[in-house]
Amino acid sequence: MPKSIIAGIGMYVPANVFTNDDLTKYMDTNDEWIQERTGIKERRFANRFGETTTTMGVEAANIAIERAGITPQDIDFIIFATLSPDYYFPGCGVLVQRAMKMKEIGALDVRNQCSGFVYALSVGDQFIRSGMYKNILVIGSEKHSFAMDFNTRSRNVSVIFGDGAGAVVLQPTEDSNRGILSTHLHSDGDNAEILALYNPGTHANYWKEGLADYDDAEIGELFENHGMIDKGQNLAVMDGPAVFKKAIVKFPEVVMEALDQNGYSPADIKLLIPHQANLRISQFVQHQLKLRDDQVFNNIQKYGNTTAASIPLALCEAWQEGKIKEGDLICLAAFGSGFTWASALLKW
Ligand SMILES: CC(C)(COP(=O)(O)OP(=O)(O)OC[C@H]1O[C@@H](n2cnc3c(N)ncnc32)[C@H](O)[C@@H]1OP(=O)(O)O)[C@@H](O)C(=O)NCCC(=O)NCCS
Repeated sequence: MPKSIIAGIGMYVPANVFTNDDLTKYMDTNDEWIQERTGIKERRFANRFGETTTTMGVEAANIAIERAGITPQDIDFIIFATLSPDYYFPGCGVLVQRAMKMKEIGALDVRNQCSGFVYALSVGDQFIRSGMYKNILVIGSEKHSFAMDFNTRSRNVSVIFGDGAGAVVLQPTEDSNRGILSTHLHSDGDNAEILALYNPGTHANYWKEGLADYDDAEIGELFENHGMIDKGQNLAVMDGPAVFKKAIVKFPEVVMEALDQNGYSPADIKLLIPHQANLRISQFVQHQLKLRDDQVFNNIQKYGNTTAASIPLALCEAWQEGKIKEGDLICLAAFGSGFTWASALLKW
């Protein structure tokens, strides 16, 4: 059975840099608080009307495809991970197919938030291993800036997130010293409402009271109405401390699961690329696993948390900086909304 290799990788971040000081023009926050709690110094925000989650993904994909030495017409499957899609439906995958003038190939969107890229990579890996596809494009992209509230009421959320995209091309290899060794996917839906955007949605307060105020109607319902918007019920919510507590347990656990399954220990890792949720979470994980500074890559300081884009962005930047060489043992690990968490262990 072949293994999957990352044959090409690309990243894209918008030109517009938004510093912590820039945020203070809109909300009651400050650079010191943000850096101390999250490590973030600045993030990128997309051109409001000139860029979308899909177009940023396409920018990253073009680089990944070129580096893989193929053309968009060679791609035989698209997997797109995002929580900020261009449309509620259809997904971004079909927009990539159209924008890149690809053949009438399959396109799948993954809705797994922060762990979306690792889930998408795992799905792609199964298709490569089974022999079904030979050139799979996996994209993680987010345009958070368009959906975030920049008032003080949402400051615990809006100071954290940024925009950007990363993409990889997966191809089969028979080289036993390279490729994705294993992927590990988990979820715990008990905490689904802790980090979420409830509306628009069809939940009708079924899972939890008070998530939305609906209009009086005998049949049908607008799943987003003016009242909800006025009350801010269409904004993302996050219980930050609860996320933090769970993340620092599940990150090391899922890294160790990947290492154990393949007979490795933390000392064998050349580079751990944790989802860039919060620098303090990454530092905690590093400490737990007793990893040296040079074994963990972080770039949240420059880009904030870019959710599904964060791992391919960090992986690409690390590779571009010469920190990843052929045959290196690389571990990807993510945790986030759902809760869902995941890891992938690969030999570059
Ligand atoms: C969000 C997070 C940075 C908040 O840090 P925290 O130390 O837990 O802070 P708290 O939410 O307990 O809030 C502490 C105080 O800071 C205030 N605060 C929140 N956001 C602020 C901001 N941007 N600027 C200034 N003050 C802020 C709060 O209002 C609170 O004030 P109070 O004590 O007067 O009530 C932190 O919980 C975190 O990073 N959690 C993980 C989130 C995450 O990774 N999400 C992505 C998952 S993939």
